[in-house]
Amino acid sequence: MAIMKLFAGSSNPKLAQKISEKLTLPLGQIDSIRFADGEARVRIIDNDSEEKVAVIQSLSNPADSYLMELALIGDALKSQDVEKMIAVIPYLGYSRQDRSHRPGEAISARVVAKLIQAAGFTKVITVDLHSESVAGFYHHIPVVNLTALSLCASILPKGEDIVIVSPDAGGMKRAQKFAQEVDCPLVFVEKKRDLAKIHTTKVVRVVGDVKEKIAVIIDDTITSGGTLVQATFLLIQHGAKKVIAFATHADFVSATRTILSESPLERIYVTDTIAIKKEWQFSKLTVLSVTDLIAQAIK
Ligand code: R5P
Repeated sequence: MAIMKLFAGSSNPKLAQKISEKLTLPLGQIDSIRFADGEARVRIIDNDSEEKVAVIQSLSNPADSYLMELALIGDALKSQDVEKMIAVIPYLGYSRQDRSHRPGEAISARVVAKLIQAAGFTKVITVDLHSESVAGFYHHIPVVNLTALSLCASILPKGEDIVIVSPDAGGMKRAQKFAQEVDCPLVFVEKKRDLAKIHTTKVVRVVGDVKEKIAVIIDDTITSGGTLVQATFLLIQHGAKKVIAFATHADFVSATRTILSESPLERIYVTDTIAIKKEWQFSKLTVLSVTDLIAQAIK
């Protein structure tokens, strides 16, 4: 009997396979189907009465489907008397909705936390949460929030004058911590969001000196690419020699590839917390792997 068994939802099988190989732990079989009306059905095919399992599932697009699948896998395992069930959620979708921005808005990250705990998981391992406050919604189980920024440290150009840039106020803490670690100055771009229109942001100013420097923008997530590209134009206007970007989660939509590849960004680094469709990749994009980071945490 294995010490622990891994299971994978449908969102990122490639990463799950890599983690399984790294840990030399078997990937259990799941029969996961979706009926014509959109409902999901999940059945654990082999679990051999394991006491500990880890279920790997990113809550990427379509987030609702993958969340439901994760909850159903949790419930199915729980019914087989598994004692310790880790939800390994490399990308924890809905985390950007961590507070009510306007009266009457649901705190979606809190609802997701309730669902994951209710499904029977006893621990969550995730990577680069949009904000630490999301972990606070998990009242009954621990949350391990790993960071992929160590991967970013390895791609910084050597012997160059570098500044670390936060593309908005929300990312300041993350960028500040990283700037300290790599001993580089910190720069901040002020971004304003129009809450009435989705995916609409405007960058208004740069705080800090970027003249003749290589600007490295650090962010948690790229969706449309708008935040990065607007910040890049502003940094170039302020004299940056070159702009590169690192974001942990490539939560791309169909237009992201064009927006980023046609932008003045020199290079964009992301990780494989989310499986990126082949047709959404482009030459300036490098995908780094979080396999070792997650495997180490499971261990
Ligand atoms: C926002 O607060 C996040 O940290 C990202 O900056 C944002 O989600 C990126 O979205 P987009 O690529 O659509 O601008």
